[in-house]
Amino acid sequence: MIFVTGGTGTVGSALLSKLRQRGARVRALAHSADGRAMIERAQGEAVPGDLDRPESLQTAMAGCDRMFLLSRAHLDQPAREIAAIDAARRAGVKHVVALSIMGADANSTAVFARWHAEIDDHLVRSGLDYTILRPAGFMQTHLWPVRTVRSQGRWFGMSGDGAAGFIDADDVAAVAAEVLTSPGHEGSLYELTGPAATSMPEAAAVLSDVIGRPVTYVDLPAEEFRARLTGGGIPDFVADAVVNLYQVIRAGHAATVTNSVQEVLGRPARSYREFAETHKTAFRTM
Ligand SMILES: NC(=O)c1ccc[n+]([C@@H]2O[C@H](COP(=O)([O-])OP(=O)(O)OC[C@H]3O[C@@H](n4cnc5c(N)ncnc54)[C@H](OP(=O)(O)O)[C@@H]3O)[C@@H](O)[C@H]2O)c1
Repeated sequence: MIFVTGGTGTVGSALLSKLRQRGARVRALAHSADGRAMIERAQGEAVPGDLDRPESLQTAMAGCDRMFLLSRAHLDQPAREIAAIDAARRAGVKHVVALSIMGADANSTAVFARWHAEIDDHLVRSGLDYTILRPAGFMQTHLWPVRTVRSQGRWFGMSGDGAAGFIDADDVAAVAAEVLTSPGHEGSLYELTGPAATSMPEAAAVLSDVIGRPVTYVDLPAEEFRARLTGGGIPDFVADAVVNLYQVIRAGHAATVTNSVQEVLGRPARSYREFAETHKTAFRTM
């Protein structure tokens, strides 16, 4: 039985559907009534619990031998995931597949990279079998500014011509599903990217082509971009982290492309054009 955290989110919801297609026995953590209803509508087994209450996790995981670990960006993220790893060990889970981040490093300037390095290190030292997935930025983050693309045909950012190996979160879920249901991935760390590094002007050009009307990328000074994020309700610490990530991209330090999706799945990672085709309705004027 596989225990899944984050099953209502971007990666987790795609993972639940892929595990179902494979006929795997799955139990998903639901920390809210809405989350529970969403998982049950998708014909999955939902169990109540909260990453802030590790004792609830241990009960929820009883009888599971594998866990997929993911949690939302939050000031308590390292504490939450470390407690979940400890709860898994106590509950008798054998193998944890953790969603980390490309560039995870205790000395990184990026807070998300430092947090994930701390969690990954705890998992490696836990004595449990582990597989660590370190994806590049999700293409799905490009759906966040969809409103200005629809209303103004403009897409605001601050990464200049810097490119990143953006990956479709659906591929991250596909790799997780494979790793959770087939042997031989214990002790592995996979850095996951799309098939090519893409800059924002290039992404805007692909989008223009796919949706059939011009989308212009507008590069903003960091402070102005940050103000847009916080003005849209993004918490300060997330806005700071996003600005930092875009500075890394702008400096050309995020253009790494790996072959790990192909190696694990036996097919190439989905391209930016395929992502845009899948989501073109969201980008078009409603
Ligand atoms: N975005 C990127 O470009 C990117 C790139 C690389 C790595 N990552 C990593 O990916 C992870 C985020 O993945 P995602 O985007 O799929 O997540 P997401 O869509 O934000 O979903 C977060 C999930 O966590 C659940 N959750 C929130 N608070 C909880 C709590 N207290 N107890 C139990 N569950 C809780 C949510 O449930 P509810 O919906 O019910 O609240 C939801 O299922 C982060 O670790 C991030 O660092 C992201």
